[in-house]
Amino acid sequence: MNILILHGPNLNLLGERDPAVYGTTTLHEINDMLEKRANESGASLRIYQSNHEGILIDHIHENRKWAEGLIINPGAFTHYSYALRDAIEALGKLTVEVHLSDIMKREEFRRHSVLEGLSNVSRIIGKGAYGYYEALQTLLSAER
Ligand code: DQA
Repeated sequence: MNILILHGPNLNLLGERDPAVYGTTTLHEINDMLEKRANESGASLRIYQSNHEGILIDHIHENRKWAEGLIINPGAFTHYSYALRDAIEALGKLTVEVHLSDIMKREEFRRHSVLEGLSNVSRIIGKGAYGYYEALQTLLSAER
């Protein structure tokens, strides 16, 4: 299975950014863990991080024929990027939205995700780095 993994803005700082909220695992460690799990099951990953909305959308477009599933943590774009929502809807592939923190228990503005209501999107929140592992498991088991 070909899986596109996108990390949004500020997630390059994981490990040093607000560890009480986001944990101490770095993005590099998360990606390594995902690569290892993917290798075990013969899945292929393409992983990108960007702080720019348009670049994330470009990655979705450029990988639209290749990707059979998407794992995305859109960072703060979660809460207001209708352009990203449109790109994920147009992609139409099984998608797991991951948030390290429990966005439902944080500030008001974080409680809404623009991805709500998209039929191809499920969501894992508040499980820290493990949430990405679970997202990968979800896609791999959906394939069978
Ligand atoms: C986040 C939650 C967002 O509200 C925030 O802007 C992030 C990270 C999370 O993983 O918990 O950058 O998506």
